[in-house]
Amino acid sequence: MELTLNIDNGLYETLEKYAKSNHLDIQGLIINELQKFVPDQSIKFFAHPSAIIDQNCTIGCGTKIWHFSHIMVGAFIGENCNLGQNVFVASNVQLGNNVKVQNNVSIYSGVICEDDVFLGPSMVFTNVTNPRSHVNRRNDYKQTIIKQGASIGANATILCGTTIGKYSFVGAGAVVTKDVPAYALVTGVPAKQIGWMSENGQRLNFDNMGFATCSETNDVYKLISDIEIQKVN
Ligand SMILES: CC(C)(COP(=O)(O)OP(=O)(O)OC[C@H]1O[C@@H](n2cnc3c(N)ncnc32)[C@H](O)[C@@H]1OP(=O)(O)O)[C@@H](O)C(=O)NCCC(=O)NCCS
Repeated sequence: MELTLNIDNGLYETLEKYAKSNHLDIQGLIINELQKFVPDQSIKFFAHPSAIIDQNCTIGCGTKIWHFSHIMVGAFIGENCNLGQNVFVASNVQLGNNVKVQNNVSIYSGVICEDDVFLGPSMVFTNVTNPRSHVNRRNDYKQTIIKQGASIGANATILCGTTIGKYSFVGAGAVVTKDVPAYALVTGVPAKQIGWMSENGQRLNFDNMGFATCSETNDVYKLISDIEIQKVN
């Protein structure tokens, strides 16, 4: 059974003061302290007292949900995710493991984020292409898939029905109107591909033979075509 962990404000403040005065990590401290009060170790995730977690959602072990965030009924959130301040997760949204959501992001029904996805601050999802206030389009939500390891920069907008490829990178402020290939770096309005990014988030510069090396990990990538690269090792 998944539990909602809401910490009483007084206890939170006491722990916060203690953590600060001892230079401790408040998140780790809270989880450690609270586990002392729950002998069956059933606490699986942390939610700040100001967060609202609806019934019947699934939240994985080690996930942290910060101030003023709202998780709606039926949402599925994996393990070790971090949802910042003022994050909204709608019904039936699926987030994989280790998904990082920065402040002020609303994740609407129809969105699926696979493992290791990064959603930058104030980025915007959509789920209806042609909304009209007086027309009910609840049955017309389009699916948007953010594949494993992809990053979306601050303030970017993702039009619904698109797939953001594995380990691709959407630059800050971009408006994505089409599918983004795996490992592609796209920027601008509308977003256009300006290069390739490694899994570690480094720009890839391909040589004449069509190979590029990540400057951080030394992983090698091969250019297959204008729209496809593959990691070689
Ligand atoms: C896209 C990005 C990764 C590119 O970084 P980079 O490889 O260091 O690129 P550079 O700064 O060398 O810029 C290369 C070119 O792209 C342009 N560019 C860079 N980022 C851009 C963006 N988001 N939108 C439009 N153009 C952009 C630059 O102006 C430059 O153009 P020029 O060659 O005509 O001068 C980075 O700019 C970005 O947007 N990062 C996202 C940051 C973010 O949102 N973080 C969230 C967590 S806080």
